[in-house]
Amino acid sequence: MIERIAVLTTGGDAPGMNATIRAVVRCAINKKLEVMGVFRGWWGLINEEMKLLNHRSVSGIINQGGTILKTARCPEFETEEGRKRAFNTVKKNAIDGLIVIGGNGSFKAAHIFGRKYNVPCIGIPASIDNDINGVDVTIGSDTAINTALAAIDNIRDTATSMERIFVVEVMGRESGYIALEVALAGGCEDVIIPEKKFDTSTSLSVNGERSRTIDLESICHDIVEGNLRGKISWIIVVAEGAGSAFDIAKKITEMTSLETRAVVLGHVQRGGRPTAFSRILAINLGEAAVECLLKGDSDKTVGMRDGKIITVDFELAITKKELEVDRLYNLIKVLT
Ligand code: F6P
Repeated sequence: MIERIAVLTTGGDAPGMNATIRAVVRCAINKKLEVMGVFRGWWGLINEEMKLLNHRSVSGIINQGGTILKTARCPEFETEEGRKRAFNTVKKNAIDGLIVIGGNGSFKAAHIFGRKYNVPCIGIPASIDNDINGVDVTIGSDTAINTALAAIDNIRDTATSMERIFVVEVMGRESGYIALEVALAGGCEDVIIPEKKFDTSTSLSVNGERSRTIDLESICHDIVEGNLRGKISWIIVVAEGAGSAFDIAKKITEMTSLETRAVVLGHVQRGGRPTAFSRILAINLGEAAVECLLKGDSDKTVGMRDGKIITVDFELAITKKELEVDRLYNLIKVLT
């Protein structure tokens, strides 16, 4: 029987994590459960840093970015010794189930821990990278895209006024999701992402023709050709895992002799007030996760797919989420 659960946020913070914690705590209390809030993710479980949460503990946080429980990346939890200590905390505090709010790395860890120690673990996908397979979207990714988009709209003003090229670096070490989405929504002219090979060589030729993989020569060719057609600004979005905005901007200047500037948006994209979409997703999934634990579910994440709340086994959720890379990339080029 489930009487006491614990909730933690882990990995990179995402806007909407607080709204998720609030939903978990209040829905659980409504079902007569006790909720322990674990601080700094897995680190808090290893070091027994937690406290009992009540209705009031989560007041006034629905509109706040970040996470009141704090979050961390925890290499110690990747070791058997670390996980064993975390299990001791679970046993000592009579925790019957764990709700893990995080992204791909967090679910990988929960998958290993939950199975090894027979601790029911339910995930709630929250990551700006939208990196959970089997669900449409993670909590926080919509907010991050809107934040990056606001910046790109501003950059467009100066790009147009000064007739310049901009290379804008967005987050995504392993995923081009944010880059593709903001490039589309911002009407950007090119996008460079980890999922698509990026060739920086300057003398590329495939069968005598320019290749349509992403390569600097093609990008520079398009810029110069665009210039001749009267195009006065050019924004190239690059995901951090695919290259450095500063390096790419330098090369473009060298190859085209056109003024190019680099902007790195960085952690600006992780903070800020969650959008209505991120909050509503957080609330729906918070409730669903509590229901899952009460039903006796384990080793899976809740999520939204095609407008419905579903569950996906961690085994599948942690595999690489495929993006419609080629279609979206071609669309960006068609619209340029
Ligand atoms: O949480 C995901 C993410 O924001 C990635 O997009 C990014 O590569 C990474 O975290 C940055 O991590 P950190 O804040 O630990 O440097």
